[in-house]
Amino acid sequence: MSADAPYPLAQDLRPVALVIVAGSIAAVKAPSALRRLREAGFQTRVIATAAALNFTTPLSLSTAADAPLHTDQTWFGPQPGAEHLLLAHADMVVCVGAGADLLSRAALGRASDLASATLLSVRCPVLWVPAMNERMWLHPAVQTNVALLRSWKHHFLGPEYGPFGSHGEGEGLGRMAEPETIAALAWGLLTPAPQDSHDLQGRRVVVSAGPTREYLDPVRFISNPSSGKMGFAVAEAARDRGARVTLISGPVNLPDPPGMEVRHIESALELRDAVMEAAGRAHLVVMTAAVADYRAAERAGEKQPKVAEEATLRLVPNPDILAELGGQKGERVLVGFAMETHAGVERAAAKARRKNADFILLNYPTQENTAFGGDDNQVTLVRPGGASEAWPRMSKLEVAHRLLTEAAKLLPPE
Ligand code: C5P
Repeated sequence: MSADAPYPLAQDLRPVALVIVAGSIAAVKAPSALRRLREAGFQTRVIATAAALNFTTPLSLSTAADAPLHTDQTWFGPQPGAEHLLLAHADMVVCVGAGADLLSRAALGRASDLASATLLSVRCPVLWVPAMNERMWLHPAVQTNVALLRSWKHHFLGPEYGPFGSHGEGEGLGRMAEPETIAALAWGLLTPAPQDSHDLQGRRVVVSAGPTREYLDPVRFISNPSSGKMGFAVAEAARDRGARVTLISGPVNLPDPPGMEVRHIESALELRDAVMEAAGRAHLVVMTAAVADYRAAERAGEKQPKVAEEATLRLVPNPDILAELGGQKGERVLVGFAMETHAGVERAAAKARRKNADFILLNYPTQENTAFGGDDNQVTLVRPGGASEAWPRMSKLEVAHRLLTEAAKLLPPE
């Protein structure tokens, strides 16, 4: 909490949650949210917009909070001052029952009332808990404002699917999240997000990414559709968490990320040389590369002419780079990826054991916009012993951070 907080409760070291109650029917749940936030460990302040007071009363809000209620009347009241600036010294802002209007005032940077002026002044995390009619929530105007606020790293909880509060419109997307959920999430957001932490400061991380190309002759090769996005996300996330990163990439259509060493390879043999060299000094190696299992037994020096109808290609297996690293593991943390179409968890666990990897992230080639080429991924973490944990679908960058959080737990202390 900031030293010049508005209520200098010398003994009270609890973080401050500033609750902004907006004008929707869900405002009736605001006193309960305030109580839950206090139970979670916050001291609470509360602002009610003019519209909120149509749905809940000043007394029910101020008795549930740790301080008197703030409204537009107190802002312009007998001692007009910088109430919005004082209230902004919070550790968390929670906008309860937020409707389209408060969202738009915040997205526009208005300062036309105490709530919006305070939202302009805060520098702490902001959690929006919207509640409105489904048609309003889904309107592009509202969704554009939400996207803008998200781009400023504001957090959103809900709205949830359920019965609407009014006008017999039945069920829909628009219900406010429950007070217990609000309090739990707000408390969770107090701990820095992984992307803001520097838990990999000074660690050396090697990441392989993309496909390999196994040339048959100068113009033909065996490859796969790996886009490299997952490996690039891991490399960028590790860089942002303070690591010194070497990214070793097969041919992909992605620009070299800044702030790291990037090496380009084509074949599995080149990848193996580059990984083995870089891994010597690495604390963590993440193999996201989709390594071709085989290469041509002979690579022709010249383009091969078309022959008769049938042709036979003799293939030899490529070295298993992850298994080779696993053979000389030491304290190095090793993470692999595996794509399976069936019996995924058992196969991935067996793979982790065989390759001596600390864990493997299993994904499936079949899901839409995931794995190969997509921006999202839905993976299951599988440990060598067979324990597994399915993660929800999320962006590849979020998968990367979660992977690094798990890997960081296994790193020996420096
Ligand atoms: O055996 P499979 O290819 O399913 O294993 C996938 C994991 O092993 C990935 O992490 C991949 O990068 C790595 N791998 C490797 N060398 C190979 C094949 C796969 O390092 N030749």
